[in-house]
Amino acid sequence: MKYKEFYNRSIQNPEEFWKEQMQNLAWYKKPNTILSRDSDNHFEWFKDGELNLSYLCIDKHIEDGYGHQNAIIYDSPVTNTKQNITYSELQYEVSKLAGGLNDLGVVTGDTVIIYMPMIPQAIYAMLACARIGAIHSVVFGGFAPHELAIRIDDCEPKVVITASNGIEVERIIPYKPFVDKAIEESKHKPNYVVNYNRKQGVEISNKSYDIDYDVLTAKASIIEPVPVSSTHPLYILYTSGTTGTPKGIIRDSGGYATALKFSMKYVYGVDEGDVYWAASDVGWVVGHSYIVYGPLLNRNTTILFEGKPIKTPDASTFWRVISEHKVKVMFTAPTAIRAIKKEDPQGELIKQFDLSSLKYQFLAGERCDVATLKWTENKLKVPVIDHWWQTESGWPMLANMVGLELLKIKPGSSAKPVCGYDIQILDEDGVQTSANVEGYVTVKLPLPPGTLSNLWRNPERYKAGYLERFEGYYFSGDGGYKDEDGYVFITGRVDDIINVAGHRLSTAEMEEIVASHKSVAECAVFGIHCDIKGQKPLGLVVLKSGETPSNEQLQNEIVNTVRNNIGAVASFKNVLVVKRLPKTRSGKILRKLLRNIANSTEYKTPSTIDDVAIIKEIEYIYKTHRLGKYKNQLQ
Ligand code: COA
Ligand code: AMP
Repeated sequence: MKYKEFYNRSIQNPEEFWKEQMQNLAWYKKPNTILSRDSDNHFEWFKDGELNLSYLCIDKHIEDGYGHQNAIIYDSPVTNTKQNITYSELQYEVSKLAGGLNDLGVVTGDTVIIYMPMIPQAIYAMLACARIGAIHSVVFGGFAPHELAIRIDDCEPKVVITASNGIEVERIIPYKPFVDKAIEESKHKPNYVVNYNRKQGVEISNKSYDIDYDVLTAKASIIEPVPVSSTHPLYILYTSGTTGTPKGIIRDSGGYATALKFSMKYVYGVDEGDVYWAASDVGWVVGHSYIVYGPLLNRNTTILFEGKPIKTPDASTFWRVISEHKVKVMFTAPTAIRAIKKEDPQGELIKQFDLSSLKYQFLAGERCDVATLKWTENKLKVPVIDHWWQTESGWPMLANMVGLELLKIKPGSSAKPVCGYDIQILDEDGVQTSANVEGYVTVKLPLPPGTLSNLWRNPERYKAGYLERFEGYYFSGDGGYKDEDGYVFITGRVDDIINVAGHRLSTAEMEEIVASHKSVAECAVFGIHCDIKGQKPLGLVVLKSGETPSNEQLQNEIVNTVRNNIGAVASFKNVLVVKRLPKTRSGKILRKLLRNIANSTEYKTPSTIDDVAIIKEIEYIYKTHRLGKYKNQLQ
């Protein structure tokens, strides 16, 4: 079937469309109600259905005779390890850990935080939670203990599952000690911390809550999957918002499983049994949907890659993995390609590998610049598909749905709305813009299955942030436009969220930390262009009167505070001192103006500014600090 016809059906008759798609799952109890409203009047999918994601990702395939197929290929250049894990082996590991969690008193509806590097035990932990109906919340390992503590206090886990350490390029990250630090800081104290000891030299303290992963699973019994309702939360995933507090996105079970299964076939063009690789991290939504649940639901072999696109050991790693494991479809962020391109501009390393298994290269996580798209097309000689989505949606909202038909690729565009998403570009007053006119990217309700059902313990923020800006529409937080052929071009966030190397971060959160420095009177943090990471944060600070720290001392102190509080992943490395910040007469800091001046983008001086002279001063400061020079460095 062609895209247009299929898409139109999904919008004109969503209930019929998704009723058909949900039949592709083995429910314990098939739903009769397809689309309804919950007690908060939000849409919900398949309300009276019952299923279990761990069963669908594992046991179902074994029952169908595929126990011997590889479920996971763990490829870890940082430890020089490769391990194939069949569906039968996965079932054993997951059922034992589920049994262990049960022994610790974890039951359906309890929350469990998973703070782990890219090792098979992280996937076992997610699926073990799903098996017993516990709600997991995976926290990305690049976040510092303070961020982990915030999440512990918000979702109040009974148990935290972690590992002794992760491995970054030439650096051991002490995960378990970070968990100990976070628990010291948090008000909520989990009952147990289950630690998988990788025995790589990290000293493990002996706390009263500690349980060794191997000891726990050795004595645990095997647990069968527990049927849960379609609307039961599978997980909470925290993401950056426009305030200092992250938002806990709640994902349901039945809608998510239906959407992911659908997307594997129709968005990614992947058949059951194929090898699929999303080079992300289990701590991000891409990891949840396309390292773990999507490919396993679809009986694919998923690659679990513990490494980086470069330096592990070099810029050929991606190509080695594709050729060695015969990857059919790969998904990464444009920033990873830019990093590879910088090291190997001519793509000489690519020539050393047989990439004939590769059919499509998908890119997402940030805007894909035309140069990166073209380079990838030229070097890989396969269609390169930019697609757009977010933690909230859980699966693609805009894409070239190659499983239906490969539409023309227009560089700079993430192509067309995916089935189920009625994407509309609205102006300030909620009126649809004409072709090629930029506005706010929204989705007309109802959202399709698989998208967020609410925010954990914060339904008011959900309504205010997403549903009230334009009545009857979900507001994505992105700006963009549609061309005359219906292709959508995403131009970037319209709020204070920035995207650094494909990682979503809140500048408001960074500002809170910068402002807490003893010498700082006020500050502004915003994203400026970076050739490799897309964006990077820059802080401008105004000092309290009488404070005279040296620039170097101030920069070091502030940078370290951000690193210790948010984490290295913030890539916050630049601070400049200014005398004043440009503000409107009502006192609002003009961040967009600051960003445009720093990026040397054309800008208009707003008529509301309180003091025009300040612009010249800021331009001068940027120049004298040679910002343009270190913009190009990968720091
Ligand atoms: N645990 C601990 N620390 C981590 C981490 C993790 N899981 N991930 C990143 N960090 C640290 C890094 O070590 C680095 O620390 P440093 O400042 O001391 O060097 C810092 O966080 C920034 O990391 P990163 O943004 O990854 O930058 P990098 O310079 O190490 O690598 C790229 C640059 C482009 C190679 C890398 O960002 C990349 O592979 N990006 C792809 C991102 C991606 O897949 N995103 C998912 C969306 S699809
Ligand atoms: P996250 O929730 O971390 O997945 O980040 C989602 C945000 O990343 C979106 O709201 C966009 O701002 C940005 N983003 C993701 N994919 C794309 C893309 N293909 N093009 C442009 N921006 C993107």
